[in-house]
Amino acid sequence: MTETEIRIYKDAEALSADAAEEFIRCAKESIAARGRFAVALAGGGTPRALYSLLASPDKRDRVDWTRTHIFWGDERCVSPTSEDSNYRTAHDALLSKVSMRPQNIHRIEAERADVDKAARDYEIQLQMFFGLTDGDAPHFDLILLGMGRDGHTASLFPGSDTLEERHRLAVVTWNAGQQMRRITLTLPVLNNARVCIFLVSGKDKAETLREVLQAQTTNIAATFPAQLVKPERGRLVLLVDEAAASLLEN
Ligand code: 6PG
Repeated sequence: MTETEIRIYKDAEALSADAAEEFIRCAKESIAARGRFAVALAGGGTPRALYSLLASPDKRDRVDWTRTHIFWGDERCVSPTSEDSNYRTAHDALLSKVSMRPQNIHRIEAERADVDKAARDYEIQLQMFFGLTDGDAPHFDLILLGMGRDGHTASLFPGSDTLEERHRLAVVTWNAGQQMRRITLTLPVLNNARVCIFLVSGKDKAETLREVLQAQTTNIAATFPAQLVKPERGRLVLLVDEAAASLLEN
């Protein structure tokens, strides 16, 4: 049964500060228990402040980056130097500022001409790192997620057949909004995480967040991908600011 927790913050700054503490806590617990911390980063703009905080002088030394392995929940099919790249967002704000070994950064090579091969190669990276046999899903210590105004998360978009995928770990998908292909982790991977943390900020997310949480409580047929994230043996944590939470009933 998924343990769900919602925390509401006065603003995005407070949300990011607590998200950084959660990241640090997950890292310490994972390294203490398993000798390593495997985390999949979220894309988009909301987590930028979190990544910058983790690279700040008073926080960066609280994570053992030599035992931390960075993956991504999804990636746009653009160059890693593009401003649209989720890799570049994390690299510029965090990875270039902490002592990460290159082999600990597991980038999705979504810029490749053969995108399907790039998705399969990312699956191979996951299988090798987690020691998986076919059919197994990786057990991430932490997966960070955002939520779009249409209720998408990672690059799992409403109405997409990728929502039905139960065997692949990573697939190519199409983002009609950006007219762009993407590579995304699938729901079996998200729902096998020890902890999934959503970062949701801003008034433009308020209506969707209300509907997503309402569906969580009334079991309305899942219409938003974010509603389908329910770690089977893990924790689901929603870190939201007051603007995004403004339509939630108390
Ligand atoms: C992406 C993300 C996507 C993002 C949401 C929210 O690659 O864009 O994976 O799922 O988290 O769209 O984005 P914002 O944080 O920019 O609102």
